[in-house]
Amino acid sequence: MLFPEYRPRRMRQSDAFRKMVRETALSVNDFILPLFAVDGKGVKDPIDAMPGQYHLSIDNLVKVAGQAFDLGVPAIILFGVPSKKDPLGTQAYAKDGIVQRATRAVKNKLPELAVITDVCLCQYTDHGHCGFVDGHTVDNDASLDLLAKTALSHARAGADMVAPSDMMDGRVAEIRNLLDENDYSQIPIMSYAAKYCSSYYGPFRQAAHSTPQFGDRRTYQMDPANAREAIREATMDVEEGADIIMVKPALAYLDIICRIRDEVDLPVAAYNVSGEYSMIKAAEKMGWLDGQKVMMETLTAIKRAGADMILTYFAMDAAALING
Ligand code: PBG
Ligand code: ZN
Repeated sequence: MLFPEYRPRRMRQSDAFRKMVRETALSVNDFILPLFAVDGKGVKDPIDAMPGQYHLSIDNLVKVAGQAFDLGVPAIILFGVPSKKDPLGTQAYAKDGIVQRATRAVKNKLPELAVITDVCLCQYTDHGHCGFVDGHTVDNDASLDLLAKTALSHARAGADMVAPSDMMDGRVAEIRNLLDENDYSQIPIMSYAAKYCSSYYGPFRQAAHSTPQFGDRRTYQMDPANAREAIREATMDVEEGADIIMVKPALAYLDIICRIRDEVDLPVAAYNVSGEYSMIKAAEKMGWLDGQKVMMETLTAIKRAGADMILTYFAMDAAALING
């Protein structure tokens, strides 16, 4: 079809036509809201680099979770910021750890809101790495047991889904086995399958106090230059029993979302990470762009690329806009 027979502008001439041919529609059902749980009572400390996001004590976290639920957001993902850290990250799998207590409190008050828990060790280890550290190396196989224990403790606390973000090889299978052995075969695993070693996590590491104390995460997180490797990571996690495959970050990795969407038939999640949030917030604050419009354009692009669900700090703002 060539001009002048075909005129693409014909179908753009009215709002009604534009609505009729729109290929991607965001819904509140697409969003998962990340929340940061801390000890204490009445705590709602703003996170500097992430305007609008807070460190929340459990009482306040339940309130915010309730607001998200009222807006129609179907799920939250919990991150714990513990008061104590140690070499083995024992607070990650403690029965009364911060995530375990927060999970119980949210499920108790809001049984219909899905609680997903982030499964990792970096917020809980004094060295800040996501696995077991021996000397200056992160020991893959020695990490698996600790990660699986963490996932099991979350399931015992009532988590509806667990989301390992550590990037150790073989952790999905290890977690699946331990959950199944303990009668949690109904708990799905959302695997951070293609998680890149990204500087877009900067604001989160401030928020979660999870910056590695030596070295970096390049021996376990993926090289941003690689795409084919993401397919291998994803297919491996599918084989190991993952229920949802995640790509993270989202915006600089839309090609990866698109390719994984084509390669695997499981639901695909994308994590619109802290740096992607902070950049928009900062530019908005400077008066350089329209924050709300850029937010919606960004989330639409992530969904258009192939994400079935989006983990995003914008979840409540976007939901409020969608609901009108
Ligand atoms: C830690 C973890 C990170 C994020 C989620 N889980 C940071 C990291 O790997 O250093 C990033 C989230 C964000 O930036 O919003 N396993
Ligand atoms: Zn980690």
